[in-house]
Amino acid sequence: MKIHVVNHYQDMSVKAAELVAEQVKDKNDSVLGLATGSTPEGMYSRLVKMHQEEDLDFSAIRTFNLDEYLGLGPDHPQSYHFYMHQHLFHHINILQKNINIPDGKAIDAETACRDYEESIVNEGGIDFQVLGIGGNGHIGFNEPDTSLSAVTHVVELTEKTVKDNSRFFDSEEEVPRKALTMGMGPILKAKKILLLASGEGKSEAIRATVSGKITTQVPATFLQLHPKVILILDKEAAKLI
Ligand code: F6R
Repeated sequence: MKIHVVNHYQDMSVKAAELVAEQVKDKNDSVLGLATGSTPEGMYSRLVKMHQEEDLDFSAIRTFNLDEYLGLGPDHPQSYHFYMHQHLFHHINILQKNINIPDGKAIDAETACRDYEESIVNEGGIDFQVLGIGGNGHIGFNEPDTSLSAVTHVVELTEKTVKDNSRFFDSEEEVPRKALTMGMGPILKAKKILLLASGEGKSEAIRATVSGKITTQVPATFLQLHPKVILILDKEAAKLI
């Protein structure tokens, strides 16, 4: 694991965008695995700037998002479809056909998960996976549990995640209780992984990720098994390592 500790959120975002841009330039048809949430917002805004001012070219880039709430369609302002278009896709030259996000409105969610998994395999797997981390150590929506699923699946969100994510909704009741998430398999098979964390609320999960025992109760600890993981942390997130 390579660990960069930077002073502030903004520094984390700039450094993260530089690494993504490097990947995009080195392999212009890279398959990027993408995360949502508040952590990567600054990175996306920097990438948009790099596209607008430095012609960073996404025309052959393919993307797979980690997850989506079950029950939310692409027009719902809290759906991850909406988020991704708002923060990145609307502002860069990516082709619509190259964007993949699990379908929160799928009539048959299990089949949608299987199809999603198959598409990742058909595209050759993820070249570069961007991750945030939950305060409970979740990755995507792979929540702490007695077992972890390797493939894309439907998951029940923990009370902690529902509470943490309620800040984006009008009330906690409105937060969907289920989601579709990429499993640990394609994440750990990614050629490179970049994990971002900011703020003290992530410090315990980061301590476990870096030096805790590998356990399904903290899914991010599985990253210890991957040969090419880069962590970019601000000082608060890094305070326990
Ligand atoms: C979302 C995702 C989640 C978030 C995590 C942290 O696509 O993969 O695992 O990365 O919940 O969320 P924030 O960044 O909002 O603290």
